[in-house]
Amino acid sequence: MDLLILLLLALLLLASPVALVKSSPSVPAIFIFGDSIFDAGNNHFNKNCTAQADFPPYGSSFFHRPTGRFTNGRTVADFISQFLGLPLQKPFLELQIQFLNGTLKRFPSNGINFASAGSGFLLDTNKFMGVTPIQTQLQQFQTLVDQNHIEKPVIQESIFLLESGSNDIFNYFLPFHTPTLSPDAYVDSMLDQVNKTINQIYQLGARRIAIFSLGPVGCVPARALLPNAPTNKCFGKMNVMAKKYNRRLEDIVNSIPTKYPGAIAVFGAMYSITHRFQTYPARYGFSDVTNACCGDGTLGGLMQCGREGYKICSNPNEFMFWDFYHPTERTYHLMSKALWNGNKNQIRPFNLMALATNITF
Ligand SMILES: *[C@@H]1O[C@H](CO)[C@@H](O)[C@H](O)[C@H]1NC(C)=O
Ligand SMILES: *[C@@H]1O[C@H](CO)[C@@H](O)[C@H](O)[C@H]1NC(C)=O
Ligand SMILES: *[C@@H]1O[C@H](CO)[C@@H](O)[C@H](O)[C@H]1NC(C)=O
Repeated sequence: MDLLILLLLALLLLASPVALVKSSPSVPAIFIFGDSIFDAGNNHFNKNCTAQADFPPYGSSFFHRPTGRFTNGRTVADFISQFLGLPLQKPFLELQIQFLNGTLKRFPSNGINFASAGSGFLLDTNKFMGVTPIQTQLQQFQTLVDQNHIEKPVIQESIFLLESGSNDIFNYFLPFHTPTLSPDAYVDSMLDQVNKTINQIYQLGARRIAIFSLGPVGCVPARALLPNAPTNKCFGKMNVMAKKYNRRLEDIVNSIPTKYPGAIAVFGAMYSITHRFQTYPARYGFSDVTNACCGDGTLGGLMQCGREGYKICSNPNEFMFWDFYHPTERTYHLMSKALWNGNKNQIRPFNLMALATNITF
């Protein structure tokens, strides 16, 4: 392992124009913004929110109880936190409740999870469900910074995880959503929010930033809910839009070091990572990369897991999808490993392990 790190460092030194100096090997905290791929239970602590996974059998494979996470165990944010050797970050709304009622004296030193399942980069995405849009997640963080609950040096050394947009793209194709924007203009409006988000977290002190692309959204079992989507293959139009967004997102990520002095950023290629699982399922131990393990109806995508009358598969570890929208914990684990120590097809210009260990500013 040590040898690998050294080798990696050597390669980075040779390949990168950025000056790299060996620094403190630890990341004190991670701050997490996004949707259900990260949400550790914020929606559960939000009484206004109807997008929930706080009932069985969610959580059954790892926590052995529902936590509000939209999978059977840990999310991508949880795995990354564990790779960094940190305790799992608590949902902001849980901490806020405890802080306001006096049971919490200080906000935790390992970071905070602000993500809200169902949210997007666009303010209107699933607004009727009461989800917390990314702009509000940032305001929550900003308030803590303004009130000195998080120290500036900690912010600088922390990793910021940012991932959203699947819900924006999926909703574009909902039958009751009559789009006023062309696909290109819609993707533009998402990227505009990405830019604003990056700008804001940089102003608040973020310097190590990891931004993940969208997976093949058009392959989720919930596409069975859409009248115009095929169920015998992925929804091509939706994937085309996701790829368009991803390409331009990567340009934005690449521009971060020049646009924001002192900041470094990596682009997690979730689309390529996930696509490999679908192309070579057996190689990754999957027997099913199409249907939801838990749900009902076509593709298991017509009913949310845990709702009355749901069915569940006998071995979630063999399924890529846990419920109508979300991967299983096992899929999240494979994705997280690719992001942590993967190659440039998976995360670039370097992986999360390099982002965490080898870089100073
Ligand atoms: C819930 O809705 C009320 C009324 O609109 C609002 O004041 C409150 O901030 C909301 N709570 C959360 C956690 O979003
Ligand atoms: C404060 O909130 C937490 C989280 O909801 C709860 O577990 C605890 O019982 C509350 N304590 C008081 C003193 O109200
Ligand atoms: C976002 O920022 C990038 C890099 O500065 C810029 O090239 C791009 O035009 C911006 N995109 C939008 C949609 O504002």
